Amino acid sequence: MSAVPEVLFGSVAPEHEDPRLLGRDVRRIAFDAATLRSRVIELGQEIHDAYPDGDLLVLGLLKGSFVFLADLVREIRRPLHVDFLVASSYGDATISSGEVRLVYDPETALEDKHILLVEDIVDSGRTLRKLLTLLEARAPQSIEICALLHKRIATELAHPVRFVGFDAPNEFLVGYGLDHAENFRHLPYVASLR
Ligand code: IMP
Ligand code: MG
Repeated sequence: MSAVPEVLFGSVAPEHEDPRLLGRDVRRIAFDAATLRSRVIELGQEIHDAYPDGDLLVLGLLKGSFVFLADLVREIRRPLHVDFLVASSYGDATISSGEVRLVYDPETALEDKHILLVEDIVDSGRTLRKLLTLLEARAPQSIEICALLHKRIATELAHPVRFVGFDAPNEFLVGYGLDHAENFRHLPYVASLR
C-alpha cells in the first residue's frame, strides 16, 4: 500500500496506485486532470483573443507537447494550422545536456505566418532559445511561445513566454506528455515520482 501523495493543485486523485506507473510511487501530483483541463480551456480563450487575424500556425514541439497541444487546439475557436517540430535534447537523462538537435523540420512555410510554438515545459530555456533562433530566420510575421509549465528558473531565454499554463515546482515532472526515459507520457495528470 503506497502513501497518499501530496497534491499541489486539485484533489487527491485515486491514481496514486495507477497501473501506468511501472510500480513507481507518486511523490506528489502537481496538477490533476481537472486542473489541467480548466486551465487549457482558459489558454484557448487567451490565444483566441490574442490573434484577431492572419494565418495562425500552431507548432508543437515533439514529443512532450503532444497531449497538451491536442487538448489546446480544440479550445482555440478560430482557423489555424498545426505542424510539429522535433528537437532532441535530454536523451534519457533528467538533466539537460545542452545539446539541441532538429530531427524533424515543419513542412509548412513559416513566412508571414503567426507562429505559436507549443512546448511542454520551460526549464533552463535553452531548447527554446535555440529553436527561436532557427525559426526567426524564416521570417514569420510573429512568433510567440505557449508552455504548459514554466519552472521560472530559465536563465537562457531572452524571448518572453507569452502564454503559460502554470508555474511549476522545480522538480522532475512526468505525465500529460512529459516523460522520464520515454515513460509516463500517457498519465492524465502531472506528477513527480519518488
Ligand atoms: P530546457 O531546454 O532546459 O528549457 O528544457 C526543456 C525540455 O526539457 C522540455 O521540452 C522537456 O522535454 C525537458 N524537461 C525539462 N524539465 C522537465 C521535467 O521536469 N520533466 C520532463 N521533462 C523535462
Ligand atoms: Mg522530454
